Order: sequence, then structure tokens, then C-alpha cells
Amino acid sequence: MRRAFLFLIAAIFGGASCIAQTGSAPIVIKFSHVAAPQAHKSKGAERFKALAEQYTNGRVRIELFPNSQLYKDKEELEALQLGAVEMLAPSLSKFGPLGIKAFEVFDIPYLFRNTAELARITEGPIGAEILQQLEAKGIVGLGYWNNGFKSLSANTPLRQPDDLLGLKVRIQSSRVIEEQMTALGALPQVLAFSEAYQALSSGVVDGTENPPSNFYNQKMFEVQRHATLTNHGFLGYALIVNRDFWKRLPLDIRQAIERAVREATPFANAEAEKENNEALAAMIKSGKTAFHEPNAEELAAWEAALLPVRARMADRIGVDLLRRIEAELARPKS
Ligand code: LMR
Repeated sequence: MRRAFLFLIAAIFGGASCIAQTGSAPIVIKFSHVAAPQAHKSKGAERFKALAEQYTNGRVRIELFPNSQLYKDKEELEALQLGAVEMLAPSLSKFGPLGIKAFEVFDIPYLFRNTAELARITEGPIGAEILQQLEAKGIVGLGYWNNGFKSLSANTPLRQPDDLLGLKVRIQSSRVIEEQMTALGALPQVLAFSEAYQALSSGVVDGTENPPSNFYNQKMFEVQRHATLTNHGFLGYALIVNRDFWKRLPLDIRQAIERAVREATPFANAEAEKENNEALAAMIKSGKTAFHEPNAEELAAWEAALLPVRARMADRIGVDLLRRIEAELARPKS
């Protein structure tokens, strides 16, 4: 219904093919996301906004809506598809329910060791091919942003994989993360990011996983007594826009926006790294969560417990995609 209405408006004002600017009024891009206003994702979005508005000489105005103030995780993707917002930066772990399973390759535990390895995929042809898959769902992918590597938390110490047995853990909507938690004997529960703190503080769930930046910004460290720096999985984002809106933008505007994304990306990634380091230091200083750094033997136990996830999820993600990434990173085949 809403989509039909948008098409009608586009046909009337845009000659059906191009979004027209009425007088000097700028084209508005509503950019919604779930991260806190002070989070690196917000800082990256602000840098993108400044660059996009500069490179289009004000013909585009970017309106930022952080902190799930417009939509929560699942709703924001639906809103984008319907054209209620034009741009998002969801976590790569949230595309499975849309039917795009390839993004879940980024959730495979211990497949990526550092952000340099990730960049080899996200900035290369494989990353572009994965983004391309979004088109069939009415979405265009413009790029990837990093958050960082995740740790596990609970109210009881997590020294070894068995320590998660029977714990209820909040996860994002990724089948790979679900399998990862099941492999540890935990009971995964998908909850929106905006609901995680409440679920942890009320005991609806016992634990969760996230990089330090999110633990800190969402105050999860105030309601989790223990965390282990397992760095078992990556959290990153895709910068995405509504396909029909995008295709109707004049070419020079699209090019300017692409340039703004390209140039904001190294800034957003550097902010992410800085924020993760600072957030961890601040949480350790607060003394509210005891952070455990696993030794080599403990790390080997986490890796061994999580290795089977890769083979179990290969069919879902795509065996070919997994093999190409393993080859690119010189990892032994699963
Ligand atoms: C989460 O839901 O845990 C994260 O994806 C939130 C985010 O956008 O960093």
C-alpha cells in the first residue's frame, strides 16, 4: 500500500524515473540506526552526513535517527524496504531473516582474526558480491563498517565453554550465532538490541555477547558481573539504502553519496577501534564486570568448542563462499 503510494508520488513529481528536487528543497535521506548517540556508529554517520551534504552542495540533507528512536532491529529493515526510511546501518548478523544468509559468514567463530583480514573480504570482490544479493530484496548495499570482536558475558564466571551450559543468552537474529551458542550448551534467545539491557537486568536472560563498545554504551556492564575476552566473533555493519529510492536519484548525487560513504568508512572504523579500547578500559576501571583474559590453553578450548559451527553452517551460508574466504585468508578448510 505504502509502496504503491510512494510510486505514485514518484511518478507525479519525478517523471517516474528520477527523484526531483522541488525548488531549492533538498532531497531528504532519513538514516536510522540502533546505536547510542555517542557510539562510533553515530560518529561515522555524522561524518557521512557532513561529507554527503558537502559533496552534493546541499542538494541532499541527511537526517540521523540513532538509538532505535524510529525503529528497532527487525522493524528498521521492514521500514527500509517499505521506503519509510532511506538508509540504515544494521549489523551483518541481522540479514538472515530477510533471506540473505551469506552475511552470516561474518558470524562464524574464529574465522576472522583481525580487522585486516576482514578488510580483505569486505573491501574486495567477495564483499561486493554479498552486498549485491540485497538487490533482490529491494535494498542496495553501499559499504561495510566495523565494530569489533565480541566477548561473552554472564553473572557467573565463564572460564571454559562448559560454563555456559544451560545459560539463557541474548543473541542477534543470526542462525550462525544461534548455532554457536547451542554448541556451547547455552539457550540462545533472539532479542532486539534495544531490549538487551532490560532483559539482562531483569534476568529474562543470563548473558550475552558484544564488543566492549556496545557493552559500555548500553550499560550492559552494570548488569553483568563477568565477561571473558574470547574475541570469538566479529560485529560489523552494512550501509544500506532503499533500492527504488536509490535508483531514482540523479547519477551525480549517487556518486557523491558513494564518495561520502567511501571517505567516512576509514574514520568510522578508526573510531570503532578507539571506542572499543576506551570502553574496555572504562569498564575494567568501574569494577562492575570482572573481565577475564583467557590464557592460551583456555583460548584453545573456546576455539575447539566453536570450530564445529563452521562445518555445520556451511550449507546455510554457501559452501562455495566459505571455501573462497578460507582460501583468501589461508585458513584450513572446515
Ligand atoms: C546488537 O544487536 O547486538 C548489535 O548489532 C547492535 C549494533 O548495531 O551494534
